[in-house]
Amino acid sequence: TYEKLWLVAAMVLIVAFIATITYGSVGLGITMVGDQQDTVEPTELDGDRFDDPRVAQVGENEYEAYVTAQIFSFQPDPVVVPENSEVTFYVTSRDVIHSFSLVGTNVNTMVIPGEVSEMAVEFDEPQEYGVVCNEYCGPGHHDMEGMVQVV
Ligand code: CUA
Repeated sequence: TYEKLWLVAAMVLIVAFIATITYGSVGLGITMVGDQQDTVEPTELDGDRFDDPRVAQVGENEYEAYVTAQIFSFQPDPVVVPENSEVTFYVTSRDVIHSFSLVGTNVNTMVIPGEVSEMAVEFDEPQEYGVVCNEYCGPGHHDMEGMVQVV
C-alpha cells in the first residue's frame, strides 16, 4: 500500500540524516565536544600564553592549544597533538578578524582581535587537517593556511 511505502521512505530519510550527521562529526576521526564554540573573556586567560603560541598538556589525554591568527598565517604551524586526545583550542587574533577552520570538518570559528574563541575537539587517529581562514582579511587571505597534525 502507499501508506507502507511512505513509512519506508520516511525511515530511509531518517537513517540517511543520522548517517550524514555521524559521518560529519565522527567519520573523519574528529569530534566536536559540545555544540558550539564559546568566547572566553581574555581576562580569564593568561595573555602570556599567546606571546608564545603552543600546545600544553593539561591532563593524561588532555591538551590546550593556544593559537594566534595574524596576517596571513597561524601560529604555531603546525599545531601538533597526539591521537586519542581531547584538545581545547584557544584562538585569538593579533590584528584583524580571521577564522580558524579545519578543512573537511565542522570545526570552524571566527577569530576576533581582543577576544578568545574556545573550542574543544577530540582527535581519534593520526591525520593531518588543513587550517584555513574563512573571513576575508586582506590580499593574502587566500594563502592564509595552517596545519593541525594528529600524530
Ligand atoms: Cu585571515 Cu582571511
